Amino acid sequence: MDSSQGNAARSATAVVIVAAGSGQRLGHGIPKARVPPAGQPILAHALRGVIAANVAAQIYVCVPVGDSQLREICAAEEQLNDGHPVVIHTVHGGASRAESVANALRALEPSIERVLIHDAARPLVPVEVFTRVCQALDGGAPAVIPVISVVDTIKSVEPVLLGGAEAYRVTGTPARDTLRAVQTPQGFSLHALREAHSAVPAQDDITDDAMLMERAGVDVYVVPGSEYSHKITSASDLLLAEAWLEGPLAPRWVEG
Ligand code: C5P
Repeated sequence: MDSSQGNAARSATAVVIVAAGSGQRLGHGIPKARVPPAGQPILAHALRGVIAANVAAQIYVCVPVGDSQLREICAAEEQLNDGHPVVIHTVHGGASRAESVANALRALEPSIERVLIHDAARPLVPVEVFTRVCQALDGGAPAVIPVISVVDTIKSVEPVLLGGAEAYRVTGTPARDTLRAVQTPQGFSLHALREAHSAVPAQDDITDDAMLMERAGVDVYVVPGSEYSHKITSASDLLLAEAWLEGPLAPRWVEG
């Protein structure tokens, strides 16, 4: 792709960062995106990764209603911008992740044709992953997700009673080589994603946008993700992110 095509693609691409979760499982008593591994809020790390990837001119960040501190982080990172001028908009988060995404999709400027949906909770995604997702979109894929192989054996289970108490019983074991763990950023043709959002109601069991596309019958393609795209959910995830950020091999958004 020559640089004029690259600039046109950058102008027509937006990244949506969903950062409106409560962070209850992390247990810091503040929204997860404000928790600071290695001295910087998770949202600042996530924004720096997106800006370093330089794939979009506009970033839309979903923040909890009433939170001013995440908005301030967005304004500060817009100023810093690492030599890649970018506009960072903030949008009210919804009651679920899917609702937060839907709010952002309504806020996008008319020039936007494709969108990358990214979890703030994955702050260390290497730039190469953003590039791979965008290259698959360039190639005509309507929906693209970064994935990694699954190392554990995965079981499906159902709730049952055991001795009068609640328990779970195994119902099956999908073949491991057919399974992938899914990460973000997930890339979409905006038209296709908007259609999927309006065709499929936002329910609690919709845990990512690719799932909406699958339910709407759209082909979803995969590209290699990264172990550094690990999602911060619990205290041990935070320790891992801190070790990566403070260690001599800190990923700093490049693969290696
Ligand atoms: O809860 P979970 O870790 O799956 O959330 C994934 C991402 O979705 C997080 O970055 C979180 O901030 C975001 N989210 C959101 N709005 C919600 C719930 C989660 O933006 N209502």
